[in-house]
Amino acid sequence: MTQTPEPTAPTKAEEALAGATSGASLARSMARSTEIEADLDVNPGRYRMLTGVRPTGNMHLGHYFGTMHSWAKIQDRGVDTWILVADYQVITDRDGVGPIRERVLSLVADSLAVGVDPERSTIFAHSAVPEENQLMLPFLSLVTESELHRNPTVKSELEATDGRAMTGLMLTYPVHQAADILFCQANLVPVGKDQLPHLEQARLIAQRFDKRYGRAVKEHPVFRRPEALLSEAPLLLGLDGEKMSKSRHNTIELRMSADETAKALKKAKTDSERVITYDPVGRPEVANLLTLASLCGAGTPEEIAERIGDGGAGTLKKVTTEAVNEFFAPIRARRAELAANEDYLLQVLHTGNERARAVASQTLDAVRTAMHMDY
Ligand code: TRP
Repeated sequence: MTQTPEPTAPTKAEEALAGATSGASLARSMARSTEIEADLDVNPGRYRMLTGVRPTGNMHLGHYFGTMHSWAKIQDRGVDTWILVADYQVITDRDGVGPIRERVLSLVADSLAVGVDPERSTIFAHSAVPEENQLMLPFLSLVTESELHRNPTVKSELEATDGRAMTGLMLTYPVHQAADILFCQANLVPVGKDQLPHLEQARLIAQRFDKRYGRAVKEHPVFRRPEALLSEAPLLLGLDGEKMSKSRHNTIELRMSADETAKALKKAKTDSERVITYDPVGRPEVANLLTLASLCGAGTPEEIAERIGDGGAGTLKKVTTEAVNEFFAPIRARRAELAANEDYLLQVLHTGNERARAVASQTLDAVRTAMHMDY
């Protein structure tokens, strides 16, 4: 039986992982992603898309323009769309999960509000799918400790925790994420470039599983090989010009009212130059508001700047507020309606959990068969 080597120096696979975001490998992923993008319209039925989100708080405009806006678009092209509320992943990097139940339901409401249709798409939570989580055990046997220590996503997650000691779950979170993708036989995962290594890890685990246990299942491998749909997410900064994140209190949340949005934008950092110009390098905060207004349909950033002219930061904020409020009004109205109906949100989640469990138990059965553990 093939054994995964216990490496001292980086193996080829580890180099592939580390290199997933650079050079030739990145170019290959990008080319493949473009190919898939074109094929989605021709053969949407070939794909199952999975995306995951940590329920760490209310979703904000960075999430929306980063990923959420694409969910309904992919679903509406006829792709089987799965959205994972990654509740177990929250405990990888923090002690407290906060008001987790509320946050999970809030994420369900956000997903539905941006157009995810629970009839066609599946929204489910980690903690509700034991068969998925059981895959962690065989999967952990297919990765080495040194490989995990060198995993670029583990490294960057660790940096984000401000030097706190690494938990076992943090170290193994790429394996858990591989289980997320592989259990439901997803073959398409929308990711930013920085997340390519975790997809590569999932592919490696699928390959190694089939290599080690494949004798029983030669005709068709147990796992599909997931591929990346690379998103060109525009980088939105927070209102203070730093990275947008809830903990910095520099976000505009999807659920905010028009007034709250106006208030938040009034406090946004700008500069004292009266003439508004789009200069992302020299005037990042001003450029960021122009980008936001542009994303909300107010024209290109340059056009908006031109229109504002010497109107100064006050006009810029007013224009941005109007654009954001107009763009999000229907989403917010729908969200408010959904949020008031907890029974419905729970029902959507329960249905999704059941679908996820059905697929997960089929996959686990195939895994048991391949491992000769089907007693
Ligand atoms: N790690 C992702 C995040 O940063 C969430 C996630 C969990 C995920 N499992 C996934 C993303 C599977 C894509 C595929 O929030």
